[in-house]
Amino acid sequence: LRLIHAGQVTSNAPYAVVDERLCTGCGTCVGVCAFGAIAMHKREGTLDLSRVDPLQCTGCGNCVVACPVKAISQQVDSDAQVLAQIEAALTPAAVNGRPRILVLGCEWSSDAAAELAGANRLSYPADARLIRVRCSARFDPIHVLWALFNGADGIFLGACPPGDCHYINGNLHAQERFNTLRALLAESGFDPRRVRLEWIKPDNPHDFVEKITAFTMLVRALGPSPAFVK
Ligand code: FES
Repeated sequence: LRLIHAGQVTSNAPYAVVDERLCTGCGTCVGVCAFGAIAMHKREGTLDLSRVDPLQCTGCGNCVVACPVKAISQQVDSDAQVLAQIEAALTPAAVNGRPRILVLGCEWSSDAAAELAGANRLSYPADARLIRVRCSARFDPIHVLWALFNGADGIFLGACPPGDCHYINGNLHAQERFNTLRALLAESGFDPRRVRLEWIKPDNPHDFVEKITAFTMLVRALGPSPAFVK
């Protein structure tokens, strides 16, 4: 009632924007948006282009990842920002030969659990370098490849369990992309065990610590990543 009574609502969500110079009108983004925030914009005698409704968009980033020509971007967690964060996170060289593990964590699951782990003074291997995104829908296979090119020995993706995603089904899209990526990496001769997706509950820091520790032990046993040395 307070919101309606105001007569005007302002949204602070970091909505996605379509670059019409790049959009090819394929409609992929329309199909993946769980909020019905994207529609094709009819144009006379020329290509229909997609357009995002800023008030319906929640900024989960799913369409940004799904767009095959990278015509969609968002101001928060933009590709440029995430790629720069990945590079910075991996820049300190490996200490004493220990692996560099990049953790891409949804802020509602693994990132929250990692914060709680800290608050509860739980410890996990310092090999893990954390980057937060709004939802696992924003996990882009290109980001994973960029991490490998920048010397990551393992990539850990932490997402909300099925049914818990704050953006309806972003985690299921992430899982599908992740499975495709792992299959492609395996086909290329790269050990897919170096890339792992785990469901993490935000209020269970012990589970996060156990899973990241187990993954770190596995990557240590596998040794340095052989295929993507920068
Ligand atoms: Fe956590 Fe979508 S909000 S996976």
